[in-house]
Amino acid sequence: MKVLLLNGPNLNLLGTREPAIYGAMTLADVEAMCRTEGAALGLEVATFQSNHEGALVDRIHVAGDEGVRFVVINPGALTHTSVALRDALTGVAIPFIEVHISNVHKREAFRHRSFLSDVAEGVIVGLGTIGYRLALQAAAAKLQRGDKP
Ligand code: DQA
Repeated sequence: MKVLLLNGPNLNLLGTREPAIYGAMTLADVEAMCRTEGAALGLEVATFQSNHEGALVDRIHVAGDEGVRFVVINPGALTHTSVALRDALTGVAIPFIEVHISNVHKREAFRHRSFLSDVAEGVIVGLGTIGYRLALQAAAAKLQRGDKP
């Protein structure tokens, strides 16, 4: 079963970007960890990161054609601004889990609002990069149970 891991703007800087907030793992480390976790769960994990909103929207549209069954997305700052990402995800009707490495609710007020959370299957916030693994475990459980999106 195909799952798509999406990371938004500035997450390519993981490992060097504000390590006290985002930790020491690089994006390559996170993606490798997710492929390994996915394989153990019977999931084929494709990965994509972009700093551009439109590129993420385009990738979500392609996922719809590829038979991707679940999306795990850390939209980065686009979480707090992007109607386009929300519309892309609802448009392809692929269930998704929103992940944030940091606890956005402990941070600036502008990070408290998400344009995606109310249409997500679930949200994992503030647990560090392990949140991506937990999201894959939840996705696998939901897919195996045949839960409706
Ligand atoms: C983030 C939180 C966002 O507010 C921020 O803009 C990011 C990363 C996180 O993973 O904690 O880029 O999504």
